[in-house]
Amino acid sequence: MSWSPDNTQVNSWNEWDPLKHVIVGRADDCHIPPEEPALDAKVPEDSDMRGQWGRRPQETIDRANELLDNFANQLKARGIRVDRPTSIDHSQPATTPDFHTDSQFGCMPPRDVLLTVGSEILEATMSYRCRWFEYLNYRPLMQQYWDEDSNFRHEAAPKPRLTDADYHPDYLSEKIGVEKRLKWAEEKFFVTTEEEPLFDAADVLRFGKDLVVQHGFTTNQKGVEWLRRHFIDHRVHTVNFPGDPYPIHIDATFTPLRPGLIVNNPQRRLPEDQRKMFYDNDWEIVDAAQPAHNTPPPLCYSSTWLSMNVLVLDPKTVCVEKSEVYQAEQMDKLGMEVVEVELRDAYAFGGGLHCCTADVYREGTCEDYFP
Ligand code: ARG
Repeated sequence: MSWSPDNTQVNSWNEWDPLKHVIVGRADDCHIPPEEPALDAKVPEDSDMRGQWGRRPQETIDRANELLDNFANQLKARGIRVDRPTSIDHSQPATTPDFHTDSQFGCMPPRDVLLTVGSEILEATMSYRCRWFEYLNYRPLMQQYWDEDSNFRHEAAPKPRLTDADYHPDYLSEKIGVEKRLKWAEEKFFVTTEEEPLFDAADVLRFGKDLVVQHGFTTNQKGVEWLRRHFIDHRVHTVNFPGDPYPIHIDATFTPLRPGLIVNNPQRRLPEDQRKMFYDNDWEIVDAAQPAHNTPPPLCYSSTWLSMNVLVLDPKTVCVEKSEVYQAEQMDKLGMEVVEVELRDAYAFGGGLHCCTADVYREGTCEDYFP
């Protein structure tokens, strides 16, 4: 059956096939959550966000929503169906028998929570307490897809307990210093322990039959193992990126553009031994262009490398943030048509163009790119 916008079909096997249906996040009611172990480990030591929490200023929410709405309209104008989440009240505390935190996070970015593999959308375990209930923002859409597509598989990974046993106390000290962080990252000593399987969906990249998963702060080895046992028809590969003192979410680090081509953050290069599967199959891994900015925008969790957090619309077309001129220039040289999208004022809400979306339908089937 061919795809049509009125006929929901969940299908997406990789990061580059022609995009037809996507979820774009909303900034509604986003909060800076209170301190908690995993989140603290991620907030850069010199960040303006340290020590403050609460609802984000309304004017920043309005501005981010304006940009996200414009982005959604740009995609719609290209014939792509765009759905939006329904924000829950993120000022509500998150409480389970095992933990309590005074507020939640938001319904940005969807890429962190939802992992689409073929006809399945899997809700990740998540690894922050404030994001434990974040899947609820997407449940109206999941219910709709369930009703409309009889092949859709809606799955949820086992909710983790997120007690203190999930976090290494060494990461809780105020000042660790970047040098020590880099050493720990090199040793694969991350804030999360191996107490139970943990993963965020944005640590996973889909290459057809192969899933490439970053082991870091938000995904532990048991999380990778859970994915391996769940996606039994796939090969699941663990990757690490020494050079990243705050390793969370792979999509500002390693960005596939089309079969055979990946852009890699030059400060977080994939180690030689982990490059083998790509090189053996004639894939090229090129260093990403430098970001256009020296600092992230205010109240932002991410680094300036959101420059390479691009959304591929098809193997020849890519959305790049409008101010990221060096990244756009590189894409052009790599033979991609660049669609400029203004999003920088929404970065603080959790990420760039890839983060703020989640795939529902891309054309194509599951292919083996690494036979
Ligand atoms: N860790 C990345 C950086 O700061 C940001 C990744 C954001 N990705 C996401 N899916 N939220 O460079």
